[in-house]
Amino acid sequence: MNKLATELNDVISGGTAFELLSDFGRRMYFPKGIVLQSAEAKQKANNYNATVGMAISKGQAIELNSLKKLIPELKPAEAVTYAPTGGDPALVKLWKKDIVKKNPAVDPSKISTPIVTSGLTHGISLLMELFVDEGNSVVVPDMFWGNYRLMIEERQKASIAAFPFYTESKGLNVDGFIETIKKTAVNKKAVVIVNFPNNPTGYSPTKTEAAALKEALVAVADEGYKLLVVTDDAYFGLFFEEDTYKHSLFNELYDAHENILAAKVDGTTKEHFVWGFRVGFVTFGSKGMSEEAYKVLETKLSAAIRASISNCSRPAQSLLQKAMQDPNYNSEKEAYEVEIKERYLKIKEILAEHEDDPVLDPLGFNSGYFMSYKMKKGSSEALRKKLLDEEGIGTISIQDKFLRVAFSSVDLENIEDLYAKIYKAASEL
Ligand SMILES: Cc1ncc(COP(=O)(O)O)c(C=O)c1O
Repeated sequence: MNKLATELNDVISGGTAFELLSDFGRRMYFPKGIVLQSAEAKQKANNYNATVGMAISKGQAIELNSLKKLIPELKPAEAVTYAPTGGDPALVKLWKKDIVKKNPAVDPSKISTPIVTSGLTHGISLLMELFVDEGNSVVVPDMFWGNYRLMIEERQKASIAAFPFYTESKGLNVDGFIETIKKTAVNKKAVVIVNFPNNPTGYSPTKTEAAALKEALVAVADEGYKLLVVTDDAYFGLFFEEDTYKHSLFNELYDAHENILAAKVDGTTKEHFVWGFRVGFVTFGSKGMSEEAYKVLETKLSAAIRASISNCSRPAQSLLQKAMQDPNYNSEKEAYEVEIKERYLKIKEILAEHEDDPVLDPLGFNSGYFMSYKMKKGSSEALRKKLLDEEGIGTISIQDKFLRVAFSSVDLENIEDLYAKIYKAASEL
């Protein structure tokens, strides 16, 4: 093992985070190479800075005019230079403030500094690398974003330990989480992913369910299990019902127990409607964890970024950093959230008119971009194809049993027609 990795591991050895790290996670260190030497030169090289592999002309990073005219508000340093591996510090500071605003139980002095990732996919994938070894299991409810499978099964050669998402009464299956954690934990260590608002169901826990899940996870931690709980908050903010828990579960878990390490994965992609900007964040929180220990996790995560994509998109970070400080930013975002909520309310009305549909059984949903139907009979793939071929309507079929509808992509005035056609096609299967 590299000496620098050993030094990092020594800081956290004996703690939950160290116990949970994979072999890869333990091996990660940030080399004292180009990046660190360049950072040092930035401070001290007053004469010539001949460190970093960028091209400079007349004291500025070279930026072609044909590009410059498209982003006139960004200086070359904001548009074309490399961003630091962990992200633009000004953006990171804004994002941390935003996490606290959205999750009022979070004490900013008790969490790590968020690290910028290339979207949430990258953040989740890095966490799987750092904490999941070949042969391990990752606990996820059975309704999950399909890309977890590639990350967990194919990249990590681990397995998904799934359990039914809902209880019989269409609520969150908290007992299923706990039973599956205990059943699949190896040496009393487990990795769990919670994704609310959920893709594909559109479900988020009620306030009671969120409290029950926290209590159950703390009870498991009390029994000596060490847990990494990854909160995939991709669709955060789109909560449509009064009794829904409207914070990330990170809000509950970051300071809940010494044996729980919470890793919040969130970002601007869906939440701020900038999908292709590829700006996400990973933030850690664990009861009693020191600033030094958080630094170790930040370093290991940065090292995993350095080893894969080196750093994330600079112009996207610069644009977001500036836009997020615009006084209209939040109200503009909220206006679109209201628009999506109106679609949700319309769909609820439509579903009430089709309560006893013989084919389509809507799964519980109260948030996010999606809702899904469970097929009472017939094939969801056949329904998907029929809608596509006969009506020109695109939906997603899952396991040939579920049909996912992304109402986030269909304007309010078309919702009625969309659902009328879905019900008609289902009746003709
Ligand atoms: C649950 C969930 N998490 C993460 C992502 C990926 O987000 P990003 O585009 O930021 O990588 C998606 C995208 O579809 C998703 O549905």
